[in-house]
Amino acid sequence: MKFDTPATTNPIDQLKVIGQPVDRIDGPLKTTGTAPYAYERHDVAANPAYGCIVGSGIAKGRILSFDLSRAKAAPGVLAIVTHENAGKLDKGRFNAARLLGGPVVEHYHQAIALVVAETFEQARAAAQLVQVTYARTEGAFGLAHAKASTERRTTDRDNTVGDFAGAFAKAEVRLDATYSTPDHSHAMMEPHATLAAWDGDRLSVWTSNQMIDWTTGDLARTLGMPRDKVHLMSPYIGGGFGGKLFLRADTLLAALGARIARRPVKVAMQRPLIANNTTHRPATIQRIRIGATPQGKITAIGHESWSGNLADGKPENAVQQTRLLYAGEHRLTGTRLALLDLPEGNAMRAPGEAPGLMALEVAIDEMAERLGIDPIEFRVLNDTQVDPANAARPFSQRRLVECMRTGAERFGWNQRGARPGLVRDGRWLVGIGMAAAFRNNQVTKSGARVALDRLGTVTVETDMTDIGTGSYTIIAQTAAEMMGVPLERVVVRLGDSRFPVSSGSGGQWGANCSTAGVYAACTKLRDAVARRAGLEPVGAVFSDGMVRAGARSVPLAGLAGLEGEGAIVAEDVLEFGNLDKQYQQSTFGAHFVEVGVDAFTAEIRVRRMLAVCASGRILNPKSARSQVIGAMTMGVGAALMEELAVDERLGFFVNHDLAGYEVPVHADIPHQEVIFMDETDPISSPMKAKGVGELGICGVGAAVANAVYNATGVRVRDYPITLDKLIARMPDAA
Ligand code: MOS
Repeated sequence: MKFDTPATTNPIDQLKVIGQPVDRIDGPLKTTGTAPYAYERHDVAANPAYGCIVGSGIAKGRILSFDLSRAKAAPGVLAIVTHENAGKLDKGRFNAARLLGGPVVEHYHQAIALVVAETFEQARAAAQLVQVTYARTEGAFGLAHAKASTERRTTDRDNTVGDFAGAFAKAEVRLDATYSTPDHSHAMMEPHATLAAWDGDRLSVWTSNQMIDWTTGDLARTLGMPRDKVHLMSPYIGGGFGGKLFLRADTLLAALGARIARRPVKVAMQRPLIANNTTHRPATIQRIRIGATPQGKITAIGHESWSGNLADGKPENAVQQTRLLYAGEHRLTGTRLALLDLPEGNAMRAPGEAPGLMALEVAIDEMAERLGIDPIEFRVLNDTQVDPANAARPFSQRRLVECMRTGAERFGWNQRGARPGLVRDGRWLVGIGMAAAFRNNQVTKSGARVALDRLGTVTVETDMTDIGTGSYTIIAQTAAEMMGVPLERVVVRLGDSRFPVSSGSGGQWGANCSTAGVYAACTKLRDAVARRAGLEPVGAVFSDGMVRAGARSVPLAGLAGLEGEGAIVAEDVLEFGNLDKQYQQSTFGAHFVEVGVDAFTAEIRVRRMLAVCASGRILNPKSARSQVIGAMTMGVGAALMEELAVDERLGFFVNHDLAGYEVPVHADIPHQEVIFMDETDPISSPMKAKGVGELGICGVGAAVANAVYNATGVRVRDYPITLDKLIARMPDAA
């Protein structure tokens, strides 16, 4: 099915099942610990051995030699994989560095060996005995240092509209400020983990991955084998956040270990390796310049961002929202890549916008103060309903102003003191802040196969993944709505490379695109089922387990055979035309935060949070709310805690475990409220939905920062906002 004209009324609009806050259908499996995660697949491959990864102890250089004699002699050891016995490996299409290093080492904790043994403990013990002689070379590890020396060499092309420099110079009110965000780790609960088993030249892997199609292709490419000989399964995923978009070392090494040991092999990447071995959200340095009239109209807006990466990596696109969020005739945006020898920087929840808005939405707050205009009114004054660089291109939907107004009303924005540092509650200085939320809505084709069996059960198969987001549930809701059956009559199977290729889970496109693929397949199935019932398909109505046309009504149960024995099967792919070229598709919101800052110690506590989201149709308000409160929590982490500390001499992230890498816990997070605007976007898909899982983090960090400023009058432009950055500048506590 091609989606190239705006959606009209369709069966999804009935909202009997879609749009309802139903419980997660995988909830009982999760809460009873019986959802089979990759490392727990005891049922599929007999007698697995265990692999333990050895990470490089240097960031850059060469391995001169291995001494494996002691490791090989250790109890239980079956095999040791290194570049010397792994065979020829290609580099994956999506990897900036090789997943098995050696002899060249490209970053710290790059995998250089896998020790395979009978038990996990034996593998771990023997891994300590692997002796490596390195020749270390100097590398570039500090973004601030690399910024100056590499920006000219590797400047991306700037994106300009009008004459930014001239308009900024002429503007009567100006802001020129620089902000920084540190490297972040995904810190998902389930580590990257894989069980691999060979059957002759066929490879089966059970793993934890967001994008089945990309990863199956990359595993085959890396191993130099035909893609159809790789069977990849990832039905349950304990968090991804972008860290599991791509093939990673656990999967490749499990496959190599299983080949060399001639046994199924399980590998769970050790937690202390994850931060340096896998990808992370790269640090940024962002310069923002805003020029405005005294009345608050933006005339010039400029946003440049520097970030580091390996040579095959990309800069963090922290400026992308600045092209679209506010009006302004003269514009400049650009990203710069500094070549660094740190581990690969790549996508983490709302790549681009999440760190970009941490800077932009503080700059907007600073500019509003300079102008003496309320921060919400300043944003309203500069709202735009069209792409600011192309007036012929409207937003498909844009209700930013309504989100801010609704949030202001519900949160009690009028209680905020316009002058900072004046509201006290005992020892706490209290402040309120807000930020706009913005995230683009990307669309990508998605396929599904659906079947109706004799019992009237509808089965959906697609390689879509559920990374904790609720994909199982919204896909079941979609099929139930389309086929007119109760949710209990739908079976959903996900995350298998033998199923039709879906959008996968990334960039908050998964919910809208994958359900649209199910919609397309169900549209075909309705047709086939109506014909089987001897009814005219056009205008047939599916409800209450029946298909009806004219005066005739036929139960779905009994129409077909059992699964594999004559069930009615339909498969389709929802392909998107160019509506996303004609219209700018984005999601909008507003975040509100109240903080208390201890007047004596500068300890920051978040007291209340509210998100208002305009994201098209909300397919399931319960799972969508969970996505948003999770994202808000992650935003608090980014604002106040998260920072991979870089050792700039040796080139690695020092705090590479969950003891030193701090994330918010329950006790850090107070009352959170989420409001969804009641809207549908007929431009986005037949589902009229958009993503919300990343919108929820976009702007949160800035809202926290603006609240801290409102509480204290101290502006911190370098995240995370920790008390050491505040305390010397705090107002006199007395
Ligand atoms: Mo997302 S950062 O594309 O999983």
